[in-house]
Amino acid sequence: MLTCTSNGKRKAVAAVLEHASGDKRFKILETHMKRHQHKADALIEVLHKAQELFGFLDDGLMLFVAHHLKLPPSRVYGVATFYHFFTLKPKGAHTCVVCLGTACYVKGADRVLRAIETRAGIKAGETTPDKQFSLVTARCIGACGIAPAVVYDGTVTPRQTPEGALERVKGWCSHGP
Ligand code: FES
Repeated sequence: MLTCTSNGKRKAVAAVLEHASGDKRFKILETHMKRHQHKADALIEVLHKAQELFGFLDDGLMLFVAHHLKLPPSRVYGVATFYHFFTLKPKGAHTCVVCLGTACYVKGADRVLRAIETRAGIKAGETTPDKQFSLVTARCIGACGIAPAVVYDGTVTPRQTPEGALERVKGWCSHGP
């Protein structure tokens, strides 16, 4: 939940600044908002793009969008919670986002995804019953040069193989073969 306390505001500003300088996906999202001339009425479209890039909309991401579209965070949060097609946060303690964009797909991202699904006993978009692990997919996370890329708990990881991915998530999945 987005907070309105001064502590919350400080954290919010820190999140926006951190995002502005880090992850390439924020650059892609910024370009997308620029294409829409940072118009507030592009909010739903922008949130779709954000979810496509990140797999879900967390607080930092919504603040980033609010900052760039010059909207109150409460408006962004309100829209994101109103529409069922937006996911605010995976329910699991750990999250794995498999990029299924073209560059990753042609380099075997589908095999990586299948391996994780089998190991965890869940499909993309689901969370294990013990709430330890959520698996989501995204469309091009801006790391095509290191495809296939997978994001483990926020860390973009290059050139994933099914074996490498299973090694990364093994402690997160108690279920599966
Ligand atoms: S297609 Fe996966 S990072 Fe671009």
